[in-house]
Amino acid sequence: MRKLLVAGNWKMHGSRADTRELIDGLDAALGSDSAAEVLVCPPYVYLCDAADALRGTSVVLGAQNVAVEASGAYTGEIAGTMLRDVGCRYVIVGHSERRSIYGEEDGLVAAKFRSAQRDGLTPILCVGESLQERETGITEAVIARQLGAVLESSGIVAFKDAVVAYEPVWAIGTGHTASPEQAQAVHAFIRGILTHEDDTIGNSVRILYGGSVKSSNARDLFSMPDVDGGLVGGASLDAEGFAGICRAAG
Ligand code: 13P
Repeated sequence: MRKLLVAGNWKMHGSRADTRELIDGLDAALGSDSAAEVLVCPPYVYLCDAADALRGTSVVLGAQNVAVEASGAYTGEIAGTMLRDVGCRYVIVGHSERRSIYGEEDGLVAAKFRSAQRDGLTPILCVGESLQERETGITEAVIARQLGAVLESSGIVAFKDAVVAYEPVWAIGTGHTASPEQAQAVHAFIRGILTHEDDTIGNSVRILYGGSVKSSNARDLFSMPDVDGGLVGGASLDAEGFAGICRAAG
């Protein structure tokens, strides 16, 4: 049985005050009985405040990016050990915004996945096709390439402690959510690649859906057999709304 995971990717939003307010609001709205694992990924500079605010709650902390290197003269980078040091358990790697805006290619994403694990973090590996890729019928080829780069670099055993997030680029921040059936088809494809390598590991990996998840569509998405929760952007910035998504995973 895979425990569902609902993760909030705050992206570059909010202030120090908002961070506390959002976490306090989320904790109050969630109450004590969230059946799903709940994770928030605030901007780097607010991680310490978030860790403070999360103390005593069941919500866990993650980051949105990580350096490949362990330490050294890398101006502006943040090492996985530093993220661990301030209380992070997870880190997002390969988000489409990092791939498309900051030119992170498959090789770099695979290296970040590896260094996250080296530093004791659980990577959430994002994969997903653009609208043009979907329309030209190469969705599966794109996903296979993105996943393949990590499998080649880290091997299937690394997926014992990793999460995959399917985020179709055309659904991110657009309000055009993938239908539950569209999401399920790609999730099943991803799981098929992983189970082909190792049946037990493939069946235990959580595969999250991301892209315009809201409390109104979360239940239908999460009811699909291979959708094990969500990676939520915009809707994670509202405590009540995000709590509603977490409840939909219960
Ligand atoms: P939205 O939920 O705002 O579409 O963003 C999804 C996302 O990119 C989460 O990582």
